[in-house]
Amino acid sequence: VPPPIIAPSILAADFARLADEVRAVEDAADWLHVDVMDNHFVPNLTIGLPVVQSLRAVTALPFDVHLMITDPRRWAPGYADAGAYNVTFHAEACDNPVELARDLRSAGAKAGLAIDRDTPIEPYLEILPSFDTLLIMTIKAGFGGQRFIPQLLDKVRTARRHVAAGHLELRIEVDGGIAADTIAQAAEAGADAFVAGTAVYGADDPAEAVRRLRALAGR
Ligand code: DX5
Ligand code: ZN
Repeated sequence: VPPPIIAPSILAADFARLADEVRAVEDAADWLHVDVMDNHFVPNLTIGLPVVQSLRAVTALPFDVHLMITDPRRWAPGYADAGAYNVTFHAEACDNPVELARDLRSAGAKAGLAIDRDTPIEPYLEILPSFDTLLIMTIKAGFGGQRFIPQLLDKVRTARRHVAAGHLELRIEVDGGIAADTIAQAAEAGADAFVAGTAVYGADDPAEAVRRLRALAGR
């Protein structure tokens, strides 16, 4: 398992000061997690492509775009074109995930597959070679600030066994309720990329919060 990736989620940042909030974690973070919601796939609405395009100019951090939208086919390649490093879409929203992953890779991005709270992992194990990132939700997608659900780490354990057995080069990312008191168990289960919104932007010193999470994620 490679060194951990810590990805602060700007969903918990102050949207009126987004550039400053991004710069606040720039030296400490590995990726910047951007949650795109459409009030259709999830019952919440956030930001879209224009914000990602504008943010691209203010930071060197790789963007980890998490699309919680219906019809990712229509939008995902645009995020790759906007300079996203990794574009993750939901398994539940896509009937041909392998094809979309291929398109993302040919647009120059990494491809990520997200699995929401109520979706089993097993049906997707065989298509993991098409992906660079597997995002396993540790809450139900839609809102920041929810409580971490430890039972969902069983999916991380299953995925980690599968990745190890197949020698796959795939990040296993967890998202939802990741904080100082939960990150170690997620790492122990086999996650190697960690999204944190509230735990980073709710802290007095976001960069210090990222460093602390990184230390706790190290095994
Ligand atoms: C929620 C988003 C998460 C969210 C996590 O659906 O996917 O990335 O920002 O927020 P916290 O870390 O507060 O649970
Ligand atoms: Zn997310």
